[in-house]
Parts: sequence; C-alpha cells; structure tokens
Amino acid sequence: MSDVLEQIELVKRDAEAELASVSSADALEQFRIKYLGTKGLVKGLMKLLGQVPKEQKPAVGQKVNTVADELGVAFEAKKLSLGSGGASGPLVDVTEPGLAPQIGNRHILMKVVDELTDLFARMGFARASGPEVEDEFHNFVALNIPESHPARDPLDNYYIEEDRAAGSEPGAPGHSTKAGPNPLHLLRTQTSTVQIRVMENQAPPIRVVIPGRVYRPDTHDDTHLSMFHQLEALVVDKNVSMIDLKSTILQFVKAYFGESTKVRFRASFFPFTEPSAEVDVWFEGLGRWIELGGCGMVHPNVLTACKIDPEIYSGWAFGFGIERIAMRKYGINNIRLFVENDVRFLSQF
Ligand code: DAH
Repeated sequence: MSDVLEQIELVKRDAEAELASVSSADALEQFRIKYLGTKGLVKGLMKLLGQVPKEQKPAVGQKVNTVADELGVAFEAKKLSLGSGGASGPLVDVTEPGLAPQIGNRHILMKVVDELTDLFARMGFARASGPEVEDEFHNFVALNIPESHPARDPLDNYYIEEDRAAGSEPGAPGHSTKAGPNPLHLLRTQTSTVQIRVMENQAPPIRVVIPGRVYRPDTHDDTHLSMFHQLEALVVDKNVSMIDLKSTILQFVKAYFGESTKVRFRASFFPFTEPSAEVDVWFEGLGRWIELGGCGMVHPNVLTACKIDPEIYSGWAFGFGIERIAMRKYGINNIRLFVENDVRFLSQF
C-alpha cells in the first residue's frame, strides 16, 4: 500500500514541478494532456487500484481523486495567471464599468473671461493686457487723477513698501510720478491702467478688451474682495460717441445674460471719463440692482497724456467687475466662493 501511495505522491510532485515551470498557453495544454487528459497520468493512477487489496481500495481511490482535484485547481489558477482563457495578454474584463478619474477643470472665472473675450471678439475687440505692479503714472497721473485725489490715499492702495522706504513718497526728494529716478509702484487698483499702455503703443483706431486682476484694501463681504477681476474696454477712433458706448454695453448685457435682462445707466463721475455713468444690472436672485462698473467718454486729458489729439479722436471705455458678471450669469450669491477653492463649488462648472 505505501508503495502505491508513494507512486501517487510522485506523480503529484512531478506535476506540480512541471506546472510551476509552465509559461505559455501551449506548454499549459501539453501539461493538461500529459496529466489531466483522459489518457493522462492522473487517470492512469486509477489502474493502481488493481494492485491493492480490496479493503485498501477506497483509501487509494480517495487519494487519487484528491490529487486530481488539487492539480485541477492548480491548472485553472495557472490558466488565469497566463491570461484570459489561456490566450496571451493581461486579464482584462472590458465589460466592467470603469472608475472615472477625478480630473480638474478650468476655474469658473477663467471660463467667464473666455466667454467675455469671445463675445467681444465677435464685436471686433482684440484682447490686451498689462502689468499688475504699476507705477503711479499709469495708475493715476495719465488717468487724470491728480496728486491730491483721495483715490491715491495709502489706505486705499497697496503701495510697494520698498519704493516708499527709498524716498518715493509723494513730495520726497527725487520722487516723480513720471519716469523719475524713484517711481512709486503699487498693485494696480483698476485695469484702466492698460488703457494708457495700449494708447502709448498703438495709434487709433483702437478697439480692445482687457481682462485682469486688480487689488484694493477692501473689507471682504458677499460682494467685495481685496483682489478681484475687471474687464476693461477701450475704443478710440474718429467720431466715436456716447451712443456707441451705450449700444455696445446694452448689446453685451443682452447677449450675455439674456434678452430680457434689466439694465440701467446712472450718471456718475470718474476723473478719466466725461461724461461718466455707472451700469447696474438687475439680479433676480438677490432681488436688487448690482453695479457692474463704470463707463464713459474718454477724458481729453487722458488722450493728450497718451499723445492722441482729442480734437481729432474721441473714445469710450468701461470697466466691469468680472466676479459680479459671473455671479449674475451663474446664480452665485457670495463672491468669496471664487477664492475658497472648495471642490464642491468648483466642480459644478
Ligand atoms: N476704473 C474704474 C473703477 O475701477 C471703472 C471704470 C469707470 C472704468 C469708467 C472705465 C470707465 O473704463 O470709463 O472703478
């Protein structure tokens, strides 16, 4: 009997060793035929039953069956590890639903900037840009904002501390608002600065929009941040009038927010425009008018500062808050959401 059991054990060990070295579907098939086939060695072991006494037959039969089962399991496992159904290549169930990877997307404000610049491109406006760290000349002087104007108050601007320490304080020796030795710099408070930069570099006709970041030491609330974005527009040409200004803004508001959007112009004052107006749009969600920004006819002093003759050319401009535009368009009621980086908010757009 022990002889017989040993033979069975031997076949099992040989089979396991051979299976371990199998590395292709062909070799696996050879293995199957040799050991597990109808004329294979495992079936052959059953013949051993004839050599043992009757009372030992059940034990030997059971042993052979166990070995056959174990080798069958090992064979199936090998088949899986070699690839689908024994074919070569990795085992992939192409019908299994995939896991969608979490991919980022463009920030809603940048999408709105694209929408706005696309819309104005269709009305013939090119896109321009300028620096966020500006000098007083571009932020104030050329925009007809005199030294004494409250808009230049240090409390209302982020001046660059190093410039002030170096004696650039207004009134300090060497201080100059033009291209002096110690120009005072600040984070721009408005994109109107880029009106100047465009007019310095390009002769009329001019037709540009300027999206960009601006900075003001404001207290944060639902509609104010100390850093926000503006969309500036500037048109300079012969015979440009207030009618062009108003009809372009009306066209923009209706095209972007919808035909039925309520919009109103309020007379206002800006040093760099004359006449000037503020533009309000009705926010259905809030149930009140929200100011988009200012607009007006470019002041002759501004054209002159940029060496454009106001006797020949006229122009109009506007500067609107992009966050407010985005809020009105997408029903967002708190400006802080744009900068909080909450994925639950950002992934909605
Ligand atoms: N720069 C102004 C501000 O930030 C907005 C503004 C008003 C821009 C009138 C203009 C304009 O271009 O014509 O408050």
